[in-house]
Amino acid sequence: MATAVTAAVSFPASKSTSLPSRTSVTSPDRILFKKLSLQYRDVSVSGRVVSVRAQVTTEAPAKVEKESKKQDEGLIVNKFKPKDPYIGRCLLNTKITGDDAPGETWHMVFSTEGEVPYREGQSIGIIADGVDKNGKPHKLRLYSIASSALGDFGDSKTVSLCVKRLVYTNENGELVKGVCSNFLCDLKPGAEVKITGPIGKEMLMPKDPNATVVMLATGTGIAPFRSFLWKMFFEKHDDYRFNGLAWLFLGVPTSSSLLYKEEFEKMKEKAPENFRLDFAVSREQTNEKGEKMYIQTRMAQYAEELWELLKKDNTFVYMCGLKGMEKGIDDIMVSLAAKDGIDWIDYKRQLKKAEQWNVEVY
Ligand SMILES: Cc1cc2nc3c(=O)[nH]c(=O)nc-3n(C[C@H](O)[C@H](O)[C@H](O)COP(=O)(O)OP(=O)(O)OC[C@H]3O[C@@H](n4cnc5c(N)ncnc54)[C@H](O)[C@@H]3O)c2cc1C
Ligand SMILES: NC(=O)c1ccc[n+]([C@@H]2O[C@H](COP(=O)([O-])OP(=O)(O)OC[C@H]3O[C@@H](n4cnc5c(N)ncnc54)[C@H](OP(=O)(O)O)[C@@H]3O)[C@@H](O)[C@H]2O)c1
Repeated sequence: MATAVTAAVSFPASKSTSLPSRTSVTSPDRILFKKLSLQYRDVSVSGRVVSVRAQVTTEAPAKVEKESKKQDEGLIVNKFKPKDPYIGRCLLNTKITGDDAPGETWHMVFSTEGEVPYREGQSIGIIADGVDKNGKPHKLRLYSIASSALGDFGDSKTVSLCVKRLVYTNENGELVKGVCSNFLCDLKPGAEVKITGPIGKEMLMPKDPNATVVMLATGTGIAPFRSFLWKMFFEKHDDYRFNGLAWLFLGVPTSSSLLYKEEFEKMKEKAPENFRLDFAVSREQTNEKGEKMYIQTRMAQYAEELWELLKKDNTFVYMCGLKGMEKGIDDIMVSLAAKDGIDWIDYKRQLKKAEQWNVEVY
């Protein structure tokens, strides 16, 4: 059975390109998923393992059955391998950071003609043109998909990325440009691009449209969350109408590096009850103690609320971006959990098992 889907989309962050604003498309078949019942969670309280009922402190649906996002039979993984990649074309490529931002980030859209069917939260591989220093083709690099499954044009025929141009000075004082990120950021519309995948199950969205989805991103780690949020707030699906709470924390160095800010603000206008948006601008903001405003510093300001949400069995946390953020976030969770006599590491293990704690950092 095909599901009719109408996508209402906008692309305000783009400086040089405007995209079609409304299209009607048909999405792939939906398949029934294996169900899991996860009402109880084992936690370590003062060294003892006990089973606790997930405590619901905000209004949550009476739903007790959960659908595993990873048992999704329709999910496609590794359709295109490095030896025989899909050849797409760059349709647009736009710098989305300001000129004074430390580093450049680009948003790009590639054609797929529907041949690379992906879900929100998956990644693709890119093989840069050219050869490495040994004369071998470049190895693929992974990039989180930044568009919803419908794609930015709403026709399921494109895939978008959000890529930071890697440039650094090595120990000899030479400027080094990352192979694939520079290849991508320099791509011109019309150019061919070798795509592998799609891959990844960790960052798939929860199936429950009433879930609380807490999204923690640093820099280009925003990519999968743009994908989630488009599906939640810019599209109309017969089989999915988001009516939970989406809470995005985004950490960037400067306000000129805030990614997709206008899109997110538009979502907030559309659904103020369902979307919370918090930025942490590390080089411009500090907390009351004068400490640098990292994503975990911003989260700490909502510590109690976040901890209460984490006790609900329909709260799902996703983390994407810099590796360093994971420890920072763990540190605040340790102290929060300890207040309730709970060992965070044990609790997190249970959350992970229940697909409620999802991490893709690099
Ligand atoms: C699952 C996953 C998803 C990802 N998603 C995204 C995404 O959405 N957007 C995105 O931009 N990136 C993403 N990445 C990172 C991406 O895969 C590449 O690693 C990144 O673009 C750099 O690749 P490159 O070819 O440009 O650099 P390379 O040519 O591969 O050079 C990178 C190497 O340069 C060296 N290096 C880097 N910085 C320094 C430094 N400051 N000093 C000294 N040496 C240094 C390191 O050895 C590093 O391994 C993701 C990675 C993973 C694993
Ligand atoms: N799926 C994935 O695995 C995935 C997907 C997308 C991107 N990535 C990776 O994620 C990284 C994102 O980098 P970017 O260059 O796009 O980001 P960026 O624009 O440099 O922003 C990163 C932000 O995180 C802050 N930060 C630095 N250390 C931190 C720490 N320990 N804890 C919390 N915040 C910290 C930075 O602050 P200061 O600079 O002021 O210190 C900055 O504000 C890249 O390495 C990219 O390859 C991975």
